[in-house]
Amino acid sequence: MSIEIDILNGDASRQRAEPLLRAVWSPDVMKDKSWGDIKWAHADLRVLLDAPDDGGLACHVGIYFRTIIWNGHKVHVGGIGGVSTREDCRRRGYASLALDAAVHTIRANDAVKFAILFCEPHNFAFYEARGWHHFTGEVTCEQPSGTIRFEAMAPLVNDIVRAPRQGKIDLCGLPW
Ligand SMILES: CC(C)(COP(=O)(O)OP(=O)(O)OC[C@H]1O[C@@H](n2cnc3c(N)ncnc32)[C@H](O)[C@@H]1OP(=O)(O)O)[C@@H](O)C(=O)NCCC(=O)NCCS
Repeated sequence: MSIEIDILNGDASRQRAEPLLRAVWSPDVMKDKSWGDIKWAHADLRVLLDAPDDGGLACHVGIYFRTIIWNGHKVHVGGIGGVSTREDCRRRGYASLALDAAVHTIRANDAVKFAILFCEPHNFAFYEARGWHHFTGEVTCEQPSGTIRFEAMAPLVNDIVRAPRQGKIDLCGLPW
């Protein structure tokens, strides 16, 4: 079985990712989500995992770069979002591979101090097993209505040269 992983410009690859994202985050899935109305940032880069034996694009991970404010200091961070594996391709290690490629890409940027993602409780174990830690402080972000406390999902961090666990994070823009 061959697998191809591409890391592409986020806007240029959006059209290619959309059918997978629409299938994973279908209206049926979204109808039960309390965060369904949140406006999300667009990915700067996307990891696309193609598995030709599994019918093509099987997994997507979005990568974001942002200067945020952590405890009053500006910090450049990497973000991970939109982690999605086609339902018929799950539990084959695809998200683990794509996440790994995304974290490597973020770490290759020397300015980045840590990585951060947001997830629902049923995915905590998946990320904890892959080296992510809970940030238990307060997160704020922008929405069309203004600055809000972001509590829709829980923040998890991947340490690089900083290991934030508490305090205040202002995402200084839309969440991811
Ligand atoms: C969460 C999600 C991305 C995981 O994708 P995935 O491709 O199935 O992930 P992986 O296959 O890498 O790993 C999933 C599990 O399968 C296991 N696994 C990996 N390869 C396996 C294999 N060949 N055989 C059996 N199990 C396997 C992994 O160990 C992991 O188990 P763990 O959580 O107990 O550690 C996927 O379920 C999904 O798209 N969910 C809906 C969207 C979502 O919630 N996204 C997360 C947003 S934060």
